[in-house]
Amino acid sequence: MSPLAGAFLTVHTPRYCTLEAAYEGKLASEVFRPVRDGLVAQGEAVAQARLDAAVVNSCHLITTFPTVVDGTPRHRGVLTAQEAPEIIHGVPYDYPGDYDLAARLIARGKAAGRQCVLANDVHYPLDYGTVMPMVCYLDRAQRTPMVPISVCLSADLDESYGWGRHVAQVAGESDKRVGFVASGSVSHKLVRGPERAPRPEDQELDHRFARLLADGEFEKLWGWLPEFARTTQAEMGGRHLAMLLGAIMESGSRFVPAVHAYGPSSGSGNYVISLLAA
Ligand SMILES: [Fe+2]
Repeated sequence: MSPLAGAFLTVHTPRYCTLEAAYEGKLASEVFRPVRDGLVAQGEAVAQARLDAAVVNSCHLITTFPTVVDGTPRHRGVLTAQEAPEIIHGVPYDYPGDYDLAARLIARGKAAGRQCVLANDVHYPLDYGTVMPMVCYLDRAQRTPMVPISVCLSADLDESYGWGRHVAQVAGESDKRVGFVASGSVSHKLVRGPERAPRPEDQELDHRFARLLADGEFEKLWGWLPEFARTTQAEMGGRHLAMLLGAIMESGSRFVPAVHAYGPSSGSGNYVISLLAA
């Protein structure tokens, strides 16, 4: 079995939540349609991957010093997003977790000398960068056991990449079909105005990023990531992208790419891309 059944770059723009609101509600806009449709298509790709577990790295699960892996056996709660309560409010979630997978990830991290913490607490909440794509699009039935892993501000791109490698290593040791989901923008120069797009030069860089990813040019992409992240001010310094690359490259799998969509949100660029293990 491939050490990684699939890798997914997704988005968490609040106004895409919920699906019904996105298509029919007052937030609906044709500007957002490509990404909404892309998220629906990505949900189909996730279903096709038949995951036994999903490790989710959201740019809004932010820790300062340690990387936190959430091994809570049941993620249950109701989310109102702190920074967008008018859009994401009262969204219930109830996902199984995977304590064993989370504990193995932490063991790998500790063995590599990384500062990390295993959470196992029914009060540890899911953030909107996790809930938005997962609940609204990628696993609406809420059946796939989920292991959230934080973006850590003290971790550089190398450390974030290392955590991605751990995800693939742990996946390879298990008999489970494990997927990795990175939830975050590519270019991320935010401005007020939800429909505003990145500057053309940043869109160009976003497209280059996506092309390299889809073409399987992972080494080249990893070498370029620091410059890309600096120039485009990628969300969370591109740590989620580094973790995605770490997972993909460590797995050594051949992936079939699907570039579902690209779209704007308040000046940021957002790609929806699925890589399914061949
Ligand atoms: Fe974000």
